Amino acid sequence: MDITITRTTQPKPKPADGDLSFGTLFTDHMFQMDYAPDQGWHNPRIEPYGPITMDPATMVLHYGQGVFEGLKAFRTADDEIRMFRPQDNMKRLNRSARALCIPELDEELALTALKQLVDLDRDWVPRTHGTSLYIRPTIIAMDPFLGVRASHTYRYYVILGPVGAYYAEGFNPVKIWVSKEHVRAVRGGLGESKTMANYAASLYAGEAAHRHGYTQVLWLDGVEQRYVEEVGSMNICFVIDGELATPELNGSILPGITRDSVLALGRKWGLTVSERKITIDEVFAAHAKGTLEEVFGTGTAAVVSPVGELKYDDQVITIGDGKVGPLAQKFFDSIMDIQYGRSDDAEGWIVPV
Ligand code: COI
Repeated sequence: MDITITRTTQPKPKPADGDLSFGTLFTDHMFQMDYAPDQGWHNPRIEPYGPITMDPATMVLHYGQGVFEGLKAFRTADDEIRMFRPQDNMKRLNRSARALCIPELDEELALTALKQLVDLDRDWVPRTHGTSLYIRPTIIAMDPFLGVRASHTYRYYVILGPVGAYYAEGFNPVKIWVSKEHVRAVRGGLGESKTMANYAASLYAGEAAHRHGYTQVLWLDGVEQRYVEEVGSMNICFVIDGELATPELNGSILPGITRDSVLALGRKWGLTVSERKITIDEVFAAHAKGTLEEVFGTGTAAVVSPVGELKYDDQVITIGDGKVGPLAQKFFDSIMDIQYGRSDDAEGWIVPV
């Protein structure tokens, strides 16, 4: 299927790298494609960035039948533009789509579309270390209908935006509040899919964390509220007595691509790496024993986000003197070195544009 390209006649001014934050600016073009039962996915096109007009009854606006992805493109010192593990994002998008009864995309076409779109807007990829072009593929239910069922028609679109750090703290340790009352997801639900609903479900507790002076929430499992699941919108890793441990993928945890990259690098470096159940009591007990060495989140947007403080009930613990731990630093540097082309892509994670 050929992708039709309509170029903008009114390119926008590009920001200075130093002014970049996360998720506020978008490039000149977007990709779109439609789904109808009798046509399948059709009319793939790149067009000037602009509003999507929809009927007020459009299903995604009422029942949240929508899934998305987040990935990045980087500019190397030689001015090459490259994406990090985009096939994995496309695979996960289809997995999320299946969970919400959305028809799957052709992954090859979807990857080609990403390449063509990023290529067309390549001048938007910033060059300073720590900046990148964030890529947001999204699928939404388009039937104008208020009955509760899966939509028959869909829109797939991809927008791009130059970004800097995700958290205002940058790579500095964040303070995290362990939520006992709120849960993000339960096994058998949507937790392992990247659906809009998961992020909506996280907002109330996120606001509560802010009110308590914390940056984000540490989510416990939805059944017993004992097992650690995620932190904010990221996966979570612990270094306990030399072991790199992260919660196993149990059905309510997102299979993060940065999570997977950290585990792969950890194994390659000869660390003891486990995906297992981790109770919040184990974390606090390890701290009491002096074996809780590091805690950090992993995700596309921030890559690695060190946790400096955890609050659970009345207990507040400081991790590693509130400083960035050596492994968090090493994962952060190593993944960014691969992304920006400063080290070999031995894992085959890079796709040039
Ligand atoms: C990420 O860590 O990449 C996320 O999931 C955050 C994103 C939803 C902004």
